[in-house]
Amino acid sequence: MAHKQDHGTSCCCCLFGILWKILVALIVPVGLAILIFWLVVQPRSFKFHVTEADLTQFDFYTNNNTLHYNMVLNFTAQASAFYEDARFANYDMVTHMNSFRQYKKITSPMSAVFSGQKLLMLNNEQASKLNQDKSDGVYDIYVKLNFRIRFRLGDSISRHLKPKVKCHLKVPSSKSGTFTLFQTTKCSVHF
Ligand SMILES: *[C@@H]1O[C@H](CO)[C@@H](O)[C@H](O)[C@H]1NC(C)=O
Ligand SMILES: *[C@@H]1O[C@H](CO)[C@@H](O)[C@H](O)[C@H]1NC(C)=O
Repeated sequence: MAHKQDHGTSCCCCLFGILWKILVALIVPVGLAILIFWLVVQPRSFKFHVTEADLTQFDFYTNNNTLHYNMVLNFTAQASAFYEDARFANYDMVTHMNSFRQYKKITSPMSAVFSGQKLLMLNNEQASKLNQDKSDGVYDIYVKLNFRIRFRLGDSISRHLKPKVKCHLKVPSSKSGTFTLFQTTKCSVHF
């Protein structure tokens, strides 16, 4: 009886032992690969800035709840632009990231055009923020960039990564009398 129980326990242990070894065998190389990759590429390659923003129109008409907008941003990706959490535009890059190679320390300027009109339901808070921004002549615009990117280290090329880049911009309206210049804005990057 006792012998049988011992046998059962050791078999159980041995099964866990095997599972554990498999787990370690899988996790360690993957972890190391990620760590090495991170140490080598991460800090330098990912700094994104919006260098220029030109807002020629940003008018919200309350009679038909329509936002008429026209904005040009210089940066490098596929983007969605948000105003006070209300999405007003999608922009698809003409240049696909696949065909775009970013070598170290080379920055490739690109620009995105957000232009059109959009039916928006703004709540009271959003509407008063919009009025405030309008009188300031500077709009708080939140831009999300979606990248598809591959890193290249010597001859090895990583799989596609999809980092998320978020930019909180203060875009001066070029129509407003106040001559505020757009400040180059650094965006946050998350993988
Ligand atoms: C909304 O109303 C404004 C002002 O009356 C007008 O200029 C604009 O063309 C209208 N937009 C649409 C989409 O009807
Ligand atoms: C912004 O993009 C436009 C169009 O591509 C270009 O003509 C202009 O020089 C760019 N400005 C900066 C500051 O990169």
